[in-house]
Amino acid sequence: MTKIDIKSSLETIQNIAKINQGKNLKYSILTMGCQLNENDSEKLCGMMEEMNYTKVENLKEADLIVFNTCCVRENAEDRLFGKLGEVKKYKEERGTIIAIGGCMMQEKHIVEKLKQSYPFFDIVFGPHTLKQFPIDLYKIIENKKRVEDILDIDGEIIEGLPIKREDAIKASVAIMNGCNNFCSYCIVPYVRGRERSREPKDIIEEVQALAKQGYKEIMLLGQNVNSYLRVERENHIPFEEYEGVNSFATLLRAINKIEDIERIRFISPHPKDFTDDVIEAIRDCDKVCKLVHLPLQSGSTEVLKVMNRKYTKEQYLTLVEKMKKTIPNLTLSTDIIVGFPGEAEEDFEDTLDVVQKVNYEQVYMFIYSRRVGTPGDKMENQIPEEIKHERFDRLKQLVEKQIAIKNKEYIGTIQQILIEGKSKTNETMLTGRTDSNKVVVLEGEDSLIGKNVPLKIVSEHMWYLKGVVVNG
Ligand code: 5AD
Ligand code: SF4
Repeated sequence: MTKIDIKSSLETIQNIAKINQGKNLKYSILTMGCQLNENDSEKLCGMMEEMNYTKVENLKEADLIVFNTCCVRENAEDRLFGKLGEVKKYKEERGTIIAIGGCMMQEKHIVEKLKQSYPFFDIVFGPHTLKQFPIDLYKIIENKKRVEDILDIDGEIIEGLPIKREDAIKASVAIMNGCNNFCSYCIVPYVRGRERSREPKDIIEEVQALAKQGYKEIMLLGQNVNSYLRVERENHIPFEEYEGVNSFATLLRAINKIEDIERIRFISPHPKDFTDDVIEAIRDCDKVCKLVHLPLQSGSTEVLKVMNRKYTKEQYLTLVEKMKKTIPNLTLSTDIIVGFPGEAEEDFEDTLDVVQKVNYEQVYMFIYSRRVGTPGDKMENQIPEEIKHERFDRLKQLVEKQIAIKNKEYIGTIQQILIEGKSKTNETMLTGRTDSNKVVVLEGEDSLIGKNVPLKIVSEHMWYLKGVVVNG
């Protein structure tokens, strides 16, 4: 696999660090969207800290503001434009450098709109040009001329950028970039380019290093994790097998062996690629959480076909049955879109039917949002907004009813909880998660942070459980 040389980026980071030395400069970053974007933001933070900027939350205090944007749904656009309206005055008052990156910048009509309506920005860069960020910034510092750094190419794999992680217990590790599926509602394949996997050795060494630093939970990230290395295998793109890793299943098995890592999670797999070797690896690997996120999108075979998902309602349910049979204590979560073009009442009822049957632990629900450039946007049979909302509410009601029942079932059970830190809403409490990703709060010493402890669940609330440490 071709890897990009980042030498000039690292040199520029050092140059800017010298220029900034002693100036007490601040940066602020706003991340929208998915965990891959959050992972990119951690790299941006790593670069900015090395360049002698210190992080502040308040945009007003920053000398450099970075927006890392998402374009999967429309609301992220509204949020960006709102924020740009706010930072305009900071730019005028104190010359704040404004950089806008992320997936939305791969959309030409958005960059055009920025130039028209928000011409005060300094840098736009896309997810493929992350490593260019220090170089673009240097140009701004040197000659104050606006930089647009967006590549249409699919992007290659970038290794070795500095990274500043948000959390001390949980770390995310991107294992692949891009997507080749072209689901007809989704903009991702157009902005993140074609699927390409990182080398097994780079991933394993990154996880080993994280384990040494004290990280306990690893989240493997990709748009389609269970086709890891598939494109490479099918197209004879050379990669180096390392510790027997040549697929997603073998990757799970190899990471499971890394000492001091307690938990492994992954998002998102695609149901069509959920092969038996992956199901068996989840069953066999003690550290791999038994919560599997299995995006459904729709329960209607007709709608799934138009969405280009390549499975039917029955195939999805059969897969779920097989997984439930093979993996003891399996729990499932999912993504669902309501109101995709042409979705009739019967189609929506099929979605409710699958939700009823699978009984998910968690459902991420989305109202269909038209994305320029996708086939879905061109379809004529768009669903009126009020019907979309009405269906969303009905789905939400069903999901909340199921979750309430499930929460009650947790009471009295003993759950292994990885304690993540202090509760954000109550400093006197600790918080952690079950294997099934449920938030649990508890009273306990700070020394429990980072430990995987058995808790007895004593009460439940809609979005969290309460537990007590089991002694002995
Ligand atoms: N409208 C609504 N939801 C979408 N998603 C992706 N594209 C769209 C869209 N155009 C949802 C899918 C995906 C999740 C990350 O976002 O459910 O799994
Ligand atoms: Fe989008 Fe489908 Fe690829 Fe997921 S698998 S990123 S929904 S095109």
